[in-house]
Amino acid sequence: MSVRWVAKISLAIGCGLVGMGWTGAASAQSEAKQIPPQAGGKGNMPWMNTALDADTRADMMIRQMTLDEKIQLVHGIGWGPLRPGAYVPPGDNGGAGFVAGIPRLGLPNLNLADSAVGVRMAALDSRYATLLPSVLGMASSWNPKLAFLYGSVIGRELRAQGFNMSIGGGVDLIREPRNGRNFEYASEDPVLAGTMVGKLAMGVQSNHVMGDIKHYVLNDQETGRNTYNAVLNRRAMQETDLLAFQIAIRMAQPAGVMCSYNRVNGDFACENQYTLNDVLKKQWGFKGFVLSDWEATHSTVKAALAGLDMEQPGDQYFGAPLKQAVQDGQVPLARLDDMVHRIVRSMIADGVVDDPPVRSVVNPFQGRNDAQKIEESSMVLLKNQDGILPLRAGDRKIAVIGGKADFGVISGGGSGQVDAPGGRPGGSQWGDPVYFPSSPLRYITQQAERQANCGVDAVAGGGVHAVKISFDPGTNLAQAAQAAAQANVAVVFVTQWMSEGMDRPSLSLPDNQDALVEAVAKANPNTVVVLETGGPVTMPWRDQVKGIVEAWFPGIGGGQAIAAALYGRVNAWGKLPVTFPAGEAQLPHPQVTGLTSKTGNNGMNGGAHHAKEARNFTVDYNVEGMEVGYKWFQVKQETPLYPFGYGLSYTRFGYSALDVAPDAQSVSFEVTNTGARGGDEIAEVYATLPASSGEPFRRLVGFARVSLKAGASQRVTVPIRPLYLKIFSTKKNDWERLPGEYILEVGGSSADLPLRTKVQLAAQ
Ligand code: BGC
Repeated sequence: MSVRWVAKISLAIGCGLVGMGWTGAASAQSEAKQIPPQAGGKGNMPWMNTALDADTRADMMIRQMTLDEKIQLVHGIGWGPLRPGAYVPPGDNGGAGFVAGIPRLGLPNLNLADSAVGVRMAALDSRYATLLPSVLGMASSWNPKLAFLYGSVIGRELRAQGFNMSIGGGVDLIREPRNGRNFEYASEDPVLAGTMVGKLAMGVQSNHVMGDIKHYVLNDQETGRNTYNAVLNRRAMQETDLLAFQIAIRMAQPAGVMCSYNRVNGDFACENQYTLNDVLKKQWGFKGFVLSDWEATHSTVKAALAGLDMEQPGDQYFGAPLKQAVQDGQVPLARLDDMVHRIVRSMIADGVVDDPPVRSVVNPFQGRNDAQKIEESSMVLLKNQDGILPLRAGDRKIAVIGGKADFGVISGGGSGQVDAPGGRPGGSQWGDPVYFPSSPLRYITQQAERQANCGVDAVAGGGVHAVKISFDPGTNLAQAAQAAAQANVAVVFVTQWMSEGMDRPSLSLPDNQDALVEAVAKANPNTVVVLETGGPVTMPWRDQVKGIVEAWFPGIGGGQAIAAALYGRVNAWGKLPVTFPAGEAQLPHPQVTGLTSKTGNNGMNGGAHHAKEARNFTVDYNVEGMEVGYKWFQVKQETPLYPFGYGLSYTRFGYSALDVAPDAQSVSFEVTNTGARGGDEIAEVYATLPASSGEPFRRLVGFARVSLKAGASQRVTVPIRPLYLKIFSTKKNDWERLPGEYILEVGGSSADLPLRTKVQLAAQ
């Protein structure tokens, strides 16, 4: 059978310089929206006076509310547009949640929209929403400015669609690399995850849309998520999963924190005195409100007294039963007032009362450009043997294989799904993988065209060359191998669909794709693999291919970004925010806890999670405790497939001249681009605490992303927050710095840290 060539190119079109990537935030988005001052409040509504602070204004308004009005604010109205046939009240904007406002007091409705990687459910009202790269992808950029841009795209489009609250902001740690929701989360490391998701939420809120951080807490796998009991000692919890939330919440001061479905050390997360009242509200001083995940409320009095402020999506516990409990004195009126205060003050503080959303047309072009920019800095170059990448003008015959690359790029499922342009009427179907029309094949063809005509790479004389690009779907191994054999270079796309409501039983690529890569690599030694995965996967073919690119779930600019990176139009690679294990046996939990044929899908809403077999199993996170991700690998002396913080570039970087500021408040060092191209480097700073801490592993304490021209050097200073050098003392119920010797290390990967020094620090 002969190969079908989809493009033959010999035309001259525009040539350009190889870019260095993009590291700045969009200027139009970088400043928070200003609320115009309003004199004195409107008529008989003195709380509308913007000169007063949000807490004062909220209290003034609450004094006017009846008991029924207060109750109305602390629950949703049911499943609404999420469930066919459910009641949809007037004013409901078609999102996952709705809380009726109080027009007589000038308090608007709350319209909440899922928006993990872009606004969900847009198709219901024939709206458009930008699909961003996965959060995990964005976090691979290690660039807080891009995280802010990411959130600002979401905020901008929520606002344009008439929503005033985001319920995205997932920051659960990646303890379980097979977790179906890892694409909505940021990292296995609390400092990286907290920083990136905090910035994301700031970006959302900069549009006067209320932000959210979720799922609080230890919702680190989907299997049995509605019922399982996550067990973890307090110190480890504080230094891992809670720390990620603490960092993000401190940074963004989001309106909402969504408590999760699971139990934490016995109590459900939405009625957990320790995590809600003691930690979130008292220890961290969180001023916003706690809303339950959808049907994660399990009681009235217990939940109200433990710190839950809003039930979603309905009123089973916080409707009539809460009113009764207040009237009976089981829940003090002051506690109800506190719930209402938290909600109203957040609405005022975030600007949704004074500057409500104005509907407009979402700008799909701006969204796509932003998505592409983020993806270009988020892909990770894992292998580049013999400099197979970037592709050159001499690579004239290219076989593109698999992954529906002729059509587009894959996206994640569940409530983090965005509806694709041209997608199914009514929106995406839960459980079906959705591809977005950003075809890598199309843009590889464009880049090849450009390269052929510009002779950017060393083809003697440059000039015009004929390029042939073929496409094979990869469904028939023999045909795929044949296509590969006829090309100079084979680029194989492989995908791993992930979704809320399920975990992967293994780290292997699904659908026989490992065999596909092996067949292609056998037929052509110049094989490059592009991964579009929700998280880490194993690569039994790693030694047989020359190039490996992790593109995550790439978003609507994915095709363009992947092609630009493959051709070296950008050199802005990211680094892994999560360890890629060599196999399941290396993990603290070689199998996903509780994952059987019966429980596999029980994380989904609906009947399945009520099944008996789903109940009451324990996920024992004390197995790894504080040693999440790379810390576990270091302590167990296991070599992963690719370590945390790892990633290559089209150039190389050297590190020198480490200097530590007094009291380790910062470190500074020199980074030099020692290669022949401009590019971005992500410098990572790790600390190992004194032996008395009992933590024999390095932890990330800071990072910086720098752009350097070929040959250029820059002195980089990375501040270290004092908190990041502390341990959590359960005795003091507080963080403390232990006296002793601290090791500080700097470099480009957790497993390659050329700079190292020791400092003595006093107790703090
Ligand atoms: C998810 C949440 C989501 C909610 C509303 C739940 O199933 O866990 O992340 O915000 O549904 O759609």
